[in-house]
Amino acid sequence: MSAFISFSVVLFNIIGVITVLSENVPVPENVRVISINLGLVLEWDPPQTTNNHPFKYTAELKGWRGYDPVCQNSSSLTCDFTDNVTIFGSYQLRVRTELDGETSDWVETKQVAVDKITEISAPHVELRSNNGQTEVDITDPPMKRKNLRDVFGNISYLIRFWKKGESNKVKLKREQSRVMLPKVKPLENYCVEVEVLYLKNKTSQPSNMTCLKNSPSNETEPWLIAVMLLISFLVVLVAVLLIFMAVWYSYKGYRIVFPNDNLPEHLKQYLAQRSQSPAPLPIHEGTHLKEPIHELMIYEKKLNSSQDNQQII
Ligand SMILES: *[C@@H]1O[C@H](CO)[C@@H](O)[C@H](O)[C@H]1NC(C)=O
Ligand SMILES: *[C@@H]1O[C@H](CO)[C@@H](O)[C@H](O)[C@H]1NC(C)=O
Ligand SMILES: *[C@@H]1O[C@H](CO)[C@@H](O)[C@H](O)[C@H]1NC(C)=O
Ligand SMILES: *[C@@H]1O[C@H](CO)[C@@H](O)[C@H](O)[C@H]1NC(C)=O
Ligand SMILES: *[C@@H]1O[C@H](CO)[C@@H](O)[C@H](O)[C@H]1NC(C)=O
Repeated sequence: MSAFISFSVVLFNIIGVITVLSENVPVPENVRVISINLGLVLEWDPPQTTNNHPFKYTAELKGWRGYDPVCQNSSSLTCDFTDNVTIFGSYQLRVRTELDGETSDWVETKQVAVDKITEISAPHVELRSNNGQTEVDITDPPMKRKNLRDVFGNISYLIRFWKKGESNKVKLKREQSRVMLPKVKPLENYCVEVEVLYLKNKTSQPSNMTCLKNSPSNETEPWLIAVMLLISFLVVLVAVLLIFMAVWYSYKGYRIVFPNDNLPEHLKQYLAQRSQSPAPLPIHEGTHLKEPIHELMIYEKKLNSSQDNQQII
């Protein structure tokens, strides 16, 4: 076992020695194209060597004229090509290691189209609740170049929402960036997660999970409206009945106190004459004026009753 290890170490040393002896600069490793939000960045790892050489790197972009350097003699392990490409163009990139005037071979990428390979970061999500409704407000992730909709046309949003603490998630696909959550209950806690859908079947990274307690509802239920209508109808009915009965009974009472009997015509005339007669002279103190008292009797003849049935009031 230990023999195997020492053999490996020896072999490794031999390779290392050969590398150094041939004065070949090793190529960068794990070269990768990263495109987030329509940017274009090349990344790589330093060559795996035992000694830490101060490697430098040069990265180039192949346009229609051939390769042009964008990052030159730089110690950085990335090169940003975002400002040197158009979104709908196709490009090839390459990078090499440089050490003390020596250079490695180029490591070349495949041809890439930014709009095809780009990944979209998570949208920003805000929740608002009003009157028992919850609204999702989605902000597209910021692009390095242009605008998400200018590049991908009509994007859409995949919205997942669920009652907090429950695993059953509802999925919605919507084109607009403001969406009312359907069928949410007042005063329940809801959580929402959104992804942008673009290029038919690609999705952005999912947004942060955002939760909000739904507001109480001011809206009255239809059955409540019906009950209220019925109650007000009954109240009006009872009120009308009470008023009718009040009027009826006060009329009856009035009739008992003041019976509906017309005074005979000649009596009316007599009373009218009396009221027209001059007022009595002011009474002097001490003098007792004796008022004459006339007895008045009214005889009434009822039309529908017999003649002998006479009433005395
Ligand atoms: C690269 O940069 C180093 C210092 O950063 C410098 O010494 C060297 O001459 C440069 N090489 C080239 C080819 O520009
Ligand atoms: C790349 O873009 C930068 C910034 O716009 C510019 O300075 C540079 O000259 C460009 N390089 C190439 C090769 O187009
Ligand atoms: C997600 O949450 C983190 C931490 O709160 C925050 O820094 C980040 O900006 C949020 N992302 C989005 C897309 O809103
Ligand atoms: C827009 O969306 C509709 C339906 O989702 C689709 O048929 C159409 O091709 C889309 N247009 C663009 C420019 O993406
Ligand atoms: C998306 O659709 C393209 C072609 O339309 C296909 O090549 C690709 O595999 C699909 N990707 C997924 C994740 O379905």
